Amino acid sequence: MALKDEFLSLISHEFKTPISVIIAAVQAMEALFGGQLDTRIKNYIQRIRQNAYRQLRLVNNLLELARISSGQVKMRVRNYDIVFLSSSITRSVVPYADQKGVKLFFSSTIREKIIGIDDEKYERILLNLLSNAIKFTPGGKSVFVRLSCIDSKQGGQVCVEVEDEGIGIPEDQQEMIFEKLAQVEGVQAPGTGGTGLGLSLAKLYTKALGGSLSLKSQVGRGSCFTLLLPDRQADVLDSVAECAACGPEHPIQRVAIEFSDLYPME
Ligand SMILES: Nc1ncnc2c1ncn2[C@@H]1O[C@H](COP(=O)(O)OP(=O)(O)OP(=O)(O)O)[C@@H](O)[C@H]1O
Ligand SMILES: [Mg+2]
Repeated sequence: MALKDEFLSLISHEFKTPISVIIAAVQAMEALFGGQLDTRIKNYIQRIRQNAYRQLRLVNNLLELARISSGQVKMRVRNYDIVFLSSSITRSVVPYADQKGVKLFFSSTIREKIIGIDDEKYERILLNLLSNAIKFTPGGKSVFVRLSCIDSKQGGQVCVEVEDEGIGIPEDQQEMIFEKLAQVEGVQAPGTGGTGLGLSLAKLYTKALGGSLSLKSQVGRGSCFTLLLPDRQADVLDSVAECAACGPEHPIQRVAIEFSDLYPME
């Protein structure tokens, strides 16, 4: 591992432990005294939690990027129904879209499609595209998630589009935003500051899954991110796996971490 990555990974671990302790303490405080606390204290608690989540997202993303560049990330590919997986992930972010007054629609031209995928990595990709779409779309406008299958020279592909009616991305910056720490200049409203790592991670995961991630966008009209994944089943004997994103402990916390910079508490 390069010295820089090793350093980053060490530092990230050192940050992660105290953040996890802060989050656990806040959760315990709410569970034990939630009913007795007055609104002002609840707001402070909410602020601590939101910022701890924010920090955790940054640290997780940095750690993951360091792992990828040192070849340490393994894909756990198993067979999942990509339609069910995508609709579950989309459903899990509805409260955040609602809170902002953004309408969120899911549609699919296929009822079921079993493909080999790493469900957790796919969830990270889709959550990042969704959080961006909701973050950069004003209330009253819409975000669409669409699934379809396409046949191409390279074989069948599953196409997942996340389209928004948001602010759009200038043409000369459309390539750059997939790079680490890159953000479009001048559009970060106070309190909505991400770290510019989400898309670079999404792109690297997509590549590792044998797919591609591309963008079409027009300033003032919106953006459409297109994720193409190979329509190929995993070479495993077991049938369709239970997905981490759909099981009983569906990741309310993972979603909250991804969306933590969207709604600053005042
Ligand atoms: N749907 C979108 N509409 C408009 N701009 C976008 C959209 N998606 C991404 N961008 C631009 O690309 C930048 C990079 O996105 P990326 O997801 O990598 O980082 P981020 O959302 O700022 O932070 P992070 O995902 O690390 O929390 C954003 O800061 C924004 O400037
Ligand atoms: Mg993002």
